[in-house]
Amino acid sequence: MKNCFGDRILADKVAFIAGGSSGINLGIAERLAEQGALVALLSRKPEKVQAAADDLIAKGYRAMAIAADVRDYAAIEAAFVQVKNAHGPIDIVVSGAAGNFLAPTVALSANAFKTVVDIDLLGTFNVFRASFDHLRKPGASHIAITAPQAVNPMAFQIHACAAKAGVNMVTRCLALEWGPAGIRVNGISPGPIAETEGMARLSPTPEAEAAFKQSIPLRAYGTKADIAEMALYLACDASRYVTGAILDCDGGWSLGDASADALTVPTRG
Ligand code: NAP
Ligand code: COA
Repeated sequence: MKNCFGDRILADKVAFIAGGSSGINLGIAERLAEQGALVALLSRKPEKVQAAADDLIAKGYRAMAIAADVRDYAAIEAAFVQVKNAHGPIDIVVSGAAGNFLAPTVALSANAFKTVVDIDLLGTFNVFRASFDHLRKPGASHIAITAPQAVNPMAFQIHACAAKAGVNMVTRCLALEWGPAGIRVNGISPGPIAETEGMARLSPTPEAEAAFKQSIPLRAYGTKADIAEMALYLACDASRYVTGAILDCDGGWSLGDASADALTVPTRG
């Protein structure tokens, strides 16, 4: 059995990374590519996704770019056909395309709510559903990028909370249904990750960031590399008996408020 501590443990693998042109998902793509996988990056903006693939190729990795919107099922199915025709059956599928912004519910239109649900939840369904006929079976590994919002309600994020809750259930339903075909389906729930578009939107000032860190048990934001390590674990044979799991990588943030005030024993006045 291969493990996650060797070199080029994914040398014969093909990975499809939806939302792979930036941030956390690009970090995952680079880690898988470094271990030898051919990584197919997919996102909406042609120049952005091509630049991300070119950057990986310049580093000596195997990569290709596809411009498509995860809300468009036919385009996603065509993307899987393109990757399989070029490089063979797909071993690893990451669904990480997402959209988020802070908005009070009374300032959120029905279309704004639908837009985020369509990208995150319908997009994950589309990516995983369209992959099925193009996978190496048994042995394929699917990884959904979810968020603590899936289980912890948060103000001004009703759209992302609802969408990611659905992503968790899609992950667990498919793990149940596709396990007999030898397909594993898991999720990663990142906490606040430094230098990402997500945190730029959710915690946009130095003051907000400092306060946020003081509420996290480990008192720091995570890094893209932290999430990439977990994705490598889920992609490789070290996790071959793990399916239907949503793994937290969040410094303990989802456990609750760990600020000094919250952890001070109240005394009688
Ligand atoms: P990001 O850099 O904005 O990544 C989002 C990616 O999705 C980009 O590649 C974007 O590229 C693509 N995308 C967006 N809409 C798309 C669509 N309709 N079709 C295809 N691709 C689309 O953000 P990030 O902060 O790294 O977040 C990445 C993932 O981690 C998301 O699933 C997010 O929910 C999750 N997450 C992030 C954090 C955090 O701290 N940042 C915490 C928890 C969970 P284009 O613009 O080219 O489409
Ligand atoms: N507050 C309230 N509503 C907002 C909003 C905000 N900050 N940003 C967009 N909307 C609304 C729009 O007004 C529109 O609703 P309307 O038709 O009723 O006016 C709806 O959302 C769709 O906006 P649009 O810009 O057409 O969507 P899009 O598909 O081009 O982009 C977004 C999707 C809005 C999620 C955009 O922010 C995006 O592309 N995000 C990807 C990057 C990202 O979010 N990264 C972090 C990942 S966690």
